[in-house]
Amino acid sequence: MRILAIESSCDETACAVVEDGRKVLSSIVASQVEEHQLYGGVVPEIASRRHVEAIVPVCRRAVEEAGMTLEQVDGVAVTYAPGLIGALLVGVNFAKGLALALDKPLIPVHHIRGHIAANYIAFPELKPPFLCLVASGGHSHIIEVADYTRFKVIGRTRDDAAGEAFDKAARAMGFPYPGGVYIDQAAKRGDERKYKLPLPKVADAPYDLSFSGLKTAVINAIHNLRQKGETLDADSMAASFQRAVVQMLVERTLLAARDTGHKTLVLAGGVSANSGLREAFKNRCGELGLTLYFPPLELCGDNAAMIGAQAYYEYQSQSQAGRLAGLALNAYASLSIEG
Ligand code: KG4
Ligand code: ZN
Repeated sequence: MRILAIESSCDETACAVVEDGRKVLSSIVASQVEEHQLYGGVVPEIASRRHVEAIVPVCRRAVEEAGMTLEQVDGVAVTYAPGLIGALLVGVNFAKGLALALDKPLIPVHHIRGHIAANYIAFPELKPPFLCLVASGGHSHIIEVADYTRFKVIGRTRDDAAGEAFDKAARAMGFPYPGGVYIDQAAKRGDERKYKLPLPKVADAPYDLSFSGLKTAVINAIHNLRQKGETLDADSMAASFQRAVVQMLVERTLLAARDTGHKTLVLAGGVSANSGLREAFKNRCGELGLTLYFPPLELCGDNAAMIGAQAYYEYQSQSQAGRLAGLALNAYASLSIEG
């Protein structure tokens, strides 16, 4: 089954063709990041307008690069939640029009389920069940993936998502938006023990995460340095911040793995591109004898190939249950991954 997938939940307009959930025939991503950089973050209305402009050419290219015609597509998948509502609506409405015109099934996909499925593309042997840490700009969850379409959230952030914390801390350090990747690069040059930052815990919820205290600590530390007329060593602040975030993510995820008995760990979402996080998980999983998967860099951030991968499994489960999506499908700014 060859699925044409569309992703427009934030600031990337993406379209891909994926065969049987695992083989990417084409994947096009048009990023708007340069425009949003001017404002230090994503401006929702600008995002929606850029999606409206980009979606047709991006989709055309994806079909061409797959060496197909639109008529040869077997289904149309689209991210319908969660995300910026105006941005999501562009993709959902476009996908509906396409499904209607082609008379093909419409397959709604949850964005975070898609991030997890990025790993199915990279690792043909990977199958549920496993434990997954999803860390992106909008979400930080520890999830038991029982099956391709059955999920149980066992830990979540109480405040900021990990990527959001990276971006806000990066902004305070003077890096451009989105700051995660700049912190990652700067951290390699810095001294991770130079600045003392707190490691927040969440009482009575061992798998839950919290980043806002850490972010505030970075902002306060920078403010204090300025007041004392001292210069900020941004590389070392980046390294100290990254060390704290990585430690929290690794500790909570490994505790959850121990308690649930999962031997396979999967990382997903934009923050799983972080080199410090990947390295720390590799080392700890090696010591504990756990099997670890994380996506190649090009599949960590938002893309449509991951949506096409998950869509294959959603279609199978929806058609078996006799509940395929109708053309009345709507978009949702927030929606649990558990469905
Ligand atoms: O998954 P994603 O592309 O979009 C959402 O669904 O939110 O995640 C974007 C987030 C941003 O906050 C970005 O700064 C962060 O992922 N990110 C990173 C790295 N690359 C992207 N954070 C830390 N280190 C990186 N190398
Ligand atoms: Zn995402």
